[in-house]
Amino acid sequence: MTNRFTLDHRLPQDHLATTLRADVLHGLSAAPRTLPSKWFYDAHGSELFERITRLPEYYPTRAEQEILARRAPEIATLTGARTLVELGSGSSRKTRLLLDALTAAGTLRRYAPLDVSDCALIEAGEALCRDYPDLRVAATVTDFEQELAVGDGPGPRLLAFLGSTIGNLDPAERRSFYAALRQALGPDDALLLGVDLVKDAGTLVRAYDDGQGVTAAFNKNVLTVLNRELDADFDHAAFDHVAVWNGAEERIEMHLRSRSAQTVKIPAVDLVLHLGAGESLRTEISGKFRREALTAELATGGLTVGHWWTDRDARFALLLAVPTR
Ligand code: SAH
Ligand code: AVI
Repeated sequence: MTNRFTLDHRLPQDHLATTLRADVLHGLSAAPRTLPSKWFYDAHGSELFERITRLPEYYPTRAEQEILARRAPEIATLTGARTLVELGSGSSRKTRLLLDALTAAGTLRRYAPLDVSDCALIEAGEALCRDYPDLRVAATVTDFEQELAVGDGPGPRLLAFLGSTIGNLDPAERRSFYAALRQALGPDDALLLGVDLVKDAGTLVRAYDDGQGVTAAFNKNVLTVLNRELDADFDHAAFDHVAVWNGAEERIEMHLRSRSAQTVKIPAVDLVLHLGAGESLRTEISGKFRREALTAELATGGLTVGHWWTDRDARFALLLAVPTR
């Protein structure tokens, strides 16, 4: 591995032991039963997500890619970024469009991807160092909800948060996130945020319940993580993958619905779940956005939206915001 790649492990040593246990104990004993979606992303979960991005039904990745392909040069000119920080970077595939534009503009010095998945960061970092011979890649393994480790790269910094991962946070979590972001951004820095937009329920549900069952496998992967890490005895076959549109909250919800009455043991947290037939665990929310409400939400969080671009079919938006002066 080249010395242009660094990996800073900032998750506490006992992250799995402590945080996962607390999340499981708190989430699965509450009503409704929930799990934070970040636990999908072990090595296999990250791979499954990459397969999702290529599914015909999952339009968000292609729509955002279309916007980036058209707007990346403008984004490079507007920001003059010397450091590109990316939250929840995953494979960094779409990011290449930004790296190309910032390299062509001659400003880029450093790419700082941040993710809970060390495997995703290592794989992406190796490929990027191969393909961008002058780029320094300073990766950080951390949870952006715990700590916004945006690093000390030279400014101006562009902080990208793509893929509508912001939609996986609920409104209260988003408020805390904006407050942390506002602290982390300097006056010359900017936020590039990708968000999926509200649209007809059929298109949305199909995007989360594909014909090949890849999203179902992604959803059930969280059970594999709990079985492996907490010695739980979840049986994949005893649950159905369910994706529903919650129109009141304007979000897709993914659930794992128990096919019959069953008992599941999670020894590491001393928990025994008695699930009724049809009872479900909510494993993910994926909020969908409208321009006016999101602009207002960001303004309350101290961020002013300066640019808003969509794909041709107006399915997805990319916005550029700066700290409110
Ligand atoms: N940005 C990429 C990947 C999106 S998938 C894209 O647009 O395609 C969501 C990514 O965010 C995954 O790589 C996952 O590991 C990461 N992630 C999810 N929750 C996180 C958290 N709390 N902290 C850091 N990374 C997180
Ligand atoms: C990462 N995140 C924005 C994806 C989403 O669309 O909410 C995760 C995902 N879940 C099911 N399919 C994709």
